[in-house]
Amino acid sequence: MSSSSSDSIQDVDRRVQDLLAKMTLAEKIGQMNQQNASEENAAGYLGDDLRAGRIGSVLNVSDLATVNELQRIATKESRLGIPLLVGRDVIHGFRTIAPIPLGQAATWNPELVQRGARLAAKEAATRGINWTFAPMVDISRDARWGRIAESFGEDVFLSNRFAEAMVKGFQGDDLRAPDSIAACVKHFAGYGASESGRDYATTNIPENELRNVYLPPFKAGIDAGALTLMTSFSDVNGVPATANRFLLQQVLRDEWDFGGVVVSDWDSVRQLEIHGLTPNATESGFEALTAGVDMEMAGGAFITHLQELIAAGRVSESAIDAAVCRILRAKFLLGLFEPGAVCVEPDNGAGLVTDEALAVSKALATQSLVLLKNDNGALPLDERTLSSVAVIGPLAEAPYEQLGTWIFDGNANDSVTPLAAIRRHLGDAVTLTHVPAMEHSRSRYSERFAQAAQAARESDIALLFLGEESILSGEAHCRADISLPGDQARLVEEVRAQGVPVIAVVMAGRPLTLGNVLNQVDALLYAWHPGTMGGEAICDVLFGLTCPSGKLPATFPNAVGQIPIYYNQKHTGKPPTPDTVVHIDDIDAQAPQTSLGMTAFHLDAGYLPQFPFGFGLSYTEFEYADLNLNTEQLEFTQILEIAVRLTNRGERAGTEVVQLYVRDLVGQVTRPVKELKGFKRVHLQAGESATVRFELRAADLSFYGRHMQPVTEAGDFQVWVGGDSSTTLSRSFTLTAERSH
Ligand code: GLC
Repeated sequence: MSSSSSDSIQDVDRRVQDLLAKMTLAEKIGQMNQQNASEENAAGYLGDDLRAGRIGSVLNVSDLATVNELQRIATKESRLGIPLLVGRDVIHGFRTIAPIPLGQAATWNPELVQRGARLAAKEAATRGINWTFAPMVDISRDARWGRIAESFGEDVFLSNRFAEAMVKGFQGDDLRAPDSIAACVKHFAGYGASESGRDYATTNIPENELRNVYLPPFKAGIDAGALTLMTSFSDVNGVPATANRFLLQQVLRDEWDFGGVVVSDWDSVRQLEIHGLTPNATESGFEALTAGVDMEMAGGAFITHLQELIAAGRVSESAIDAAVCRILRAKFLLGLFEPGAVCVEPDNGAGLVTDEALAVSKALATQSLVLLKNDNGALPLDERTLSSVAVIGPLAEAPYEQLGTWIFDGNANDSVTPLAAIRRHLGDAVTLTHVPAMEHSRSRYSERFAQAAQAARESDIALLFLGEESILSGEAHCRADISLPGDQARLVEEVRAQGVPVIAVVMAGRPLTLGNVLNQVDALLYAWHPGTMGGEAICDVLFGLTCPSGKLPATFPNAVGQIPIYYNQKHTGKPPTPDTVVHIDDIDAQAPQTSLGMTAFHLDAGYLPQFPFGFGLSYTEFEYADLNLNTEQLEFTQILEIAVRLTNRGERAGTEVVQLYVRDLVGQVTRPVKELKGFKRVHLQAGESATVRFELRAADLSFYGRHMQPVTEAGDFQVWVGGDSSTTLSRSFTLTAERSH
């Protein structure tokens, strides 16, 4: 079927209808069926179904010859020749791996993240992939959850920006371009609220919280043009997302008018029976279809039972047609019907691991690094003052682990490890001793700890590379204790006892509780899982070639028992303050029942985090002053102009992420104590000053109120600007006109 390359939406819809009119019911249902193609000889075992038009999409195949053969069979040997959507988890890179999304969020650089996604799409497209199951935009306030690694963290505003950036990056400026791939915002919705941080666990989220916290990043991704959306595995307020009509029909279609494809998660249709929502796969197919799922990923309920449901009059063919039209529309919009569009010429790897991809991956890694501690300027290191360095720990030379979770097509052989980068940087002038000390991040104490201690004792400085193997984060990999695994803390103690400066670099897929380690090291650099170029990025920052600029996208708890802990919490009626907090060790014996605090804190952990959202140190010092508003009485139609003077008071250039927070002091529902409403990366030379400006409009202050409608209310507001969410530099203003949308 030929098509002009300049099809308008009307042309596309007309061609969808023309094709639909030719399709049998069986062929229509075939388009709603996505099959796994990861096994050997996929063209063999899927061939008959492809020829019969029983498959509309495949996933988990990235061998070009196989993809081309699957597309050839689908387009040349089936009756209507409809091309396949070829889906793949291209989450943070395809072959060139960027930092995990949580690390990319720490860059606070959506433009760079968009470039990374664009390059990932280019690489994936060389292997015939035309659909990625990303970005994952689940808000996560729980570091026990393995999938926080795939998220952009705890904040709505920040997640919205990255949702937009990744969708635009993957889909490019022209969906028909051969290197554009469909994005998929997932997992709709509220998956990050899984009870106790256990994956796939129950979520109970009040509608107001859903609308103000968990839904906005999906809306941001859809407004950025996302062609598809994936349902979550989880039970949402008693109805699993894959059968949740409130989410899939009322919110997604009726309120948001989303015209894209809704795909289930892996076998999440048939899992409705396991949830106990349905008695069998037929009813599961009925519930998912009638709720609004268009395509079933790797399950078989649709392809097996939809025809019988139509024959029984329980499902109308028009419902099938609606789903199939959305699938065909996505295929037309992607240009898959263009002649030759789905037969990709082999490039012998030329399109993979390009210099540009490596450079952007390194830039993302560099900007993702968050300096959490730097006592007495322990960092940056100056190799001219060093004659010997000990590189210790399980993650100094772990090329696979540094890639992180969800890297199906990554290759550890491409990785530049910290050890390799530091060796290269130091050359022969400095003696480098490398002692892994542990076989992997979970190893227990061994005699190799003594070797590590000796290496440290005999060196000018000890560089510790600690953290989590990649398998400890990502889907289904949740932890109830989020401290350093294995006996790493003991390794730190042994090294510390040698009396030399200790610098720690931590790679992990989540915030960790670092308490006992923090006070044993002079500096700590958080590297998440930094991807292919992580080692070079870390080396550049350790030796001062680059100044760290990363800021935390998620709160670091003091203790796992504080979870959920996040900066934009509600005030409560009895908020904790330093003078109301009593530590468990300081309580008098027989203390009277009401003698303690009586506010919202833990006796054994207080109420403050280890590190707040937005935190990150630099090698220079930034000073904030002269925070001014253009008015303290803001009318509804006015723009609030916020200006602050930022000065680099240090000895070297650096980049600061200037953050803007707002609080609505009184609302018809209680409002967070702070909400991020803007941020800017500002690069200043030593001694340089700049005025940083933000604008706020009444619409920026809207929220879902008591009646689940967006409202903006008159009243008093507070505005803060600073380098993290604990900033106290603030001004106030009053919004003087009232209008509910
Ligand atoms: C997984 C994940 C989902 C992924 C899909 C395909 O179970 O939940 O995020 O895209 O299956 O791999």
